[in-house]
Amino acid sequence: MKDNSRRGFMGKAFGAVAGVGAVASLYAMKKSWDPLPSVKAAGFTTLDMSAYKENELVTEKWRGKPIFVLKYTADMMAGLDEKQKARTIKVGSSDYMVCLGLCTHLGCIPGYDPEEKSFLCACHGGMYDFTGDVTKAPPPRGLDIPPFKIDGEKLVLGEEGPEYKTMKETGITL
Ligand code: FES
Repeated sequence: MKDNSRRGFMGKAFGAVAGVGAVASLYAMKKSWDPLPSVKAAGFTTLDMSAYKENELVTEKWRGKPIFVLKYTADMMAGLDEKQKARTIKVGSSDYMVCLGLCTHLGCIPGYDPEEKSFLCACHGGMYDFTGDVTKAPPPRGLDIPPFKIDGEKLVLGEEGPEYKTMKETGITL
């Protein structure tokens, strides 16, 4: 009887130690799965949209990829059809194209002509309008739009805000 209760006590003690060990090792495993703070920060890029000039293409970088930012003029806005409007991002009182600067055909970087207000991909002659929508094959679709979230006058790349979710749901971007 005495022996039994002693075994019971030892069993509980071992159980408690094993339990603490399991929690500690789970915590250690979770810590090793979580991205480092520097990696987390690298996933987001914040653009101050007030810095851009009308009809002047700027190439930013997000997760090592080129991102085209183009601020529209009032004239550019006036001629937009519904699909082009759906590709447009309004930040504050201005309108922008923000796209991945990689051709959707085979990934070359298209060039912007501010006179023609269009993009030409020199690799195989694909063309896009200034909203990034495709106007001449072989690209199968318009330039892809990176995940974004509007934050006042800023755009956070890498976060999915409601405007981006709508674009994805309606097939404006992949
Ligand atoms: S890679 Fe752009 S048209 Fe082929």
